[in-house]
Amino acid sequence: MMGGATARVPAKINLHLGVGPLRDDGYHELSTLYCALSLYDEVTVRGDDALSVTVRGENRRQVPSDATNLAARAVVALARHAGMDPHVAITIDKTIPVAGGMAGGSADAAGALVAAARLWRLDIARDELLAIAAELGSDVPFSVVGGAALGTGRGEQLLPVLHRGALHWVLAVSGSGLSTPDVYREIDRLRARDGDDQPAAAGVARPDELMQALASGDVRAVAPLLHNDLQPAALSLQPMLRRTLRAGREAGALAGIVSGSGPTCAFLCADEDAAVRVAAELSGSGVAKAVRTASGPVAGARLIAVN
Ligand code: C5P
Repeated sequence: MMGGATARVPAKINLHLGVGPLRDDGYHELSTLYCALSLYDEVTVRGDDALSVTVRGENRRQVPSDATNLAARAVVALARHAGMDPHVAITIDKTIPVAGGMAGGSADAAGALVAAARLWRLDIARDELLAIAAELGSDVPFSVVGGAALGTGRGEQLLPVLHRGALHWVLAVSGSGLSTPDVYREIDRLRARDGDDQPAAAGVARPDELMQALASGDVRAVAPLLHNDLQPAALSLQPMLRRTLRAGREAGALAGIVSGSGPTCAFLCADEDAAVRVAAELSGSGVAKAVRTASGPVAGARLIAVN
């Protein structure tokens, strides 16, 4: 079956990331508030004689272009589910920072699932697609649904969250990535060192106040409630990020946090104009490899072309 389908998939940040204890399966119990941002990868899937992956964009060299690529694994998982051969050529146009804590690999997996399901004209229920997504990675279900959502379990169990209006962000992308497992290992190490290796149940409490602030659409109420339990671990592994966070606040952001497992730093700004000003100042300060503006919440993985 030839022809092709292209999906566009957003990056994410975590407005709240509460990390609970390490579970027996090697994952940490989470309570997180995801927000999809207007920074997108595009994933095209075309019928071919064999499975292949091509990555385009300035960070392409950091992304595997073999069967270990999460988008390739997504196609293989979906093909197995549907009883198909996974013979497709996958092309990923990358804009989302690689190993940046913005679910770039998860976005590509979500895009590959949505595009391949369309290419093969699968009649697959949303819940089935989300179950396959969850097997691929904790953030992949969120990359499919997008918007704003509360994530529990290891982050794969989702509840939509009410929000009003858009939040405007500046993203400071670091020159070197951080591996997610390394950052989780570092938080375990820091907690053990500090005698806090059994984080209180409060560590995974639902961020109710933040959810109310999001529903009200009041950016100044949201700003002081941004929180990331992984931030001390990311700062421990990349101490320079302290300077980046300080520079963003000095440039006029309302608040700044490390995004997910980092090292991208996300700065919440009062409005779109403020975000453009903060981005210009941060670009000149030399603390980041690249600076981008983005807004959210935006929709999750969407088909943008079918032929
Ligand atoms: O689910 P995913 O493959 O994206 O997770 C990557 C790694 O991040 C896991 O292998 C684990 O080390 C860590 N992780 C975790 N707890 C979570 C999610 C991820 O410890 N809830």
